[in-house]
Amino acid sequence: MAEKEIKGKERYKSGVISYKKMGYWQPDYKPGATDVIAMFRLTPANGVDPEEVAAGVAGESSTATWTVVWTDRLTACEMYRAKCYSCELVPNTGEGTETEAQYFIYIAYDMDLFEGGSIANVTASIIGNVFGMKALKALRLEDMHFPIAYMKTFDGPATGIIVERERMDKFGRPLLGATTKPKLGLSGRNYGRVVYEALKGGLDFVKDEENINSQPFMHWRDRFLYCMEAVNKASAATGEIKGHYLNVTAATVEEMIERAEFAKDLGSIIIMIDLVIGYSSIQSMAKWCRANDMILHLHRAGNSTYSRQKNHGMNFRVICMWMRMAGVDHIHAGTVVGKLEGDPAMIHGFYDVLRETKNEVNLENGIFLEQDWASMNKVMPVASGGIHAGQMHQLLHHLGEDVVLQFGGGTIGHPDGIQAGAIANRVALEVMIQARNEGKDYLAEGPEILQKAAKTCSPLKAALDTWKDITFNYESTDTADFVPTATGSN
Ligand code: 3PG
Ligand code: MG
Repeated sequence: MAEKEIKGKERYKSGVISYKKMGYWQPDYKPGATDVIAMFRLTPANGVDPEEVAAGVAGESSTATWTVVWTDRLTACEMYRAKCYSCELVPNTGEGTETEAQYFIYIAYDMDLFEGGSIANVTASIIGNVFGMKALKALRLEDMHFPIAYMKTFDGPATGIIVERERMDKFGRPLLGATTKPKLGLSGRNYGRVVYEALKGGLDFVKDEENINSQPFMHWRDRFLYCMEAVNKASAATGEIKGHYLNVTAATVEEMIERAEFAKDLGSIIIMIDLVIGYSSIQSMAKWCRANDMILHLHRAGNSTYSRQKNHGMNFRVICMWMRMAGVDHIHAGTVVGKLEGDPAMIHGFYDVLRETKNEVNLENGIFLEQDWASMNKVMPVASGGIHAGQMHQLLHHLGEDVVLQFGGGTIGHPDGIQAGAIANRVALEVMIQARNEGKDYLAEGPEILQKAAKTCSPLKAALDTWKDITFNYESTDTADFVPTATGSN
């Protein structure tokens, strides 16, 4: 709608004028090399001009409030004002469709609006107040772009994929892991036994649950001691480097550091935190890991509270971006075939922002804005949640080689025991990698490749017989807008 910015004396008369008139709607604006860009999906309140709400989002996430303030003139306000420069109807929404009108809006922010190296500061603007504005019904942060100069203010992952492989001495295949089960209730000694069996059977890592901290049934020091005993014994028995993600999540950063120090003293190569500890705590732990040569594993606990629904919250891909900048080395990023939300095309997009040096626009995978990662280390994605050995060909096909495949139930639930479960996973992975390296169509031939290997590997046979073609084939809630995508495990 044709409302335009008012300039000069008129602009600064006291009172309320629209955000568009205040200058937050600039359809001719071309983003420059120092602009941070945020792209949102906006559902305006009934009867509200979408461009006005879009300008409101730009205003309230940068310098504006609901009324004109003369103090703007004490600042370089034209530069500091965020500028919404595009507002387009989302395909398959609005008149003639079953979904009410939604808009993709693009907003440019001068990078001087943000403190260098602080995810908390970025988020306080971009997802601060604006999601609660009455003029909109729903808002979702879909994508972001950061200028190279701003990206360089973040350390990123201290270890990264290449150095992690060097430290682990494992190349040319995905890494294998498992989450200890049951989720809660094991005593330290029994817990350690699970870890030992899984590592001895052939896994590279075992992992604590996201909700294992220091409960009455197992205090954290017990867990650390028994787990490290298991890691050391399994490494000695197999001649391989092994690790256990010791979850240091606690009520305060000080306690987390205390636990991390103990993990280091015991010789652990990796610690773990949960996303729920918050952005600044994550950055503190990443800095500690950098100073102590420790790999940092992040479980994305809590993310689906705000990332899963398509019309409100934020895309998980943006969390992946922020976590790479914050400096985690591992992040749970989806399995496609497992038990948790995950459309194949969207997961591709998540993995790309974690593993590529530059992301081009790729609407099919939900990438709306290009991103140069300015040489920042890559994050190892972790596929975890409801996967088993019978899906190895699909996992390799969808997720590639630089990934940790984690089978919790799919190791510990094996009918012949935990070691057998681990053997099944390791053998399934190795035969699939061999088939790929020999140029076979391993996706099509996957089930036969596994069955053939199972003839000489009874643990794999038992795994395939137990879990058969179990898969979690539900419709995804978060799918790309620009292509009809297959959902579930197709
Ligand atoms: C996790 O923390 O990743 C899950 O608890 C994995 O468990 P599962 O492999 O048994 O689904
Ligand atoms: Mg878990």
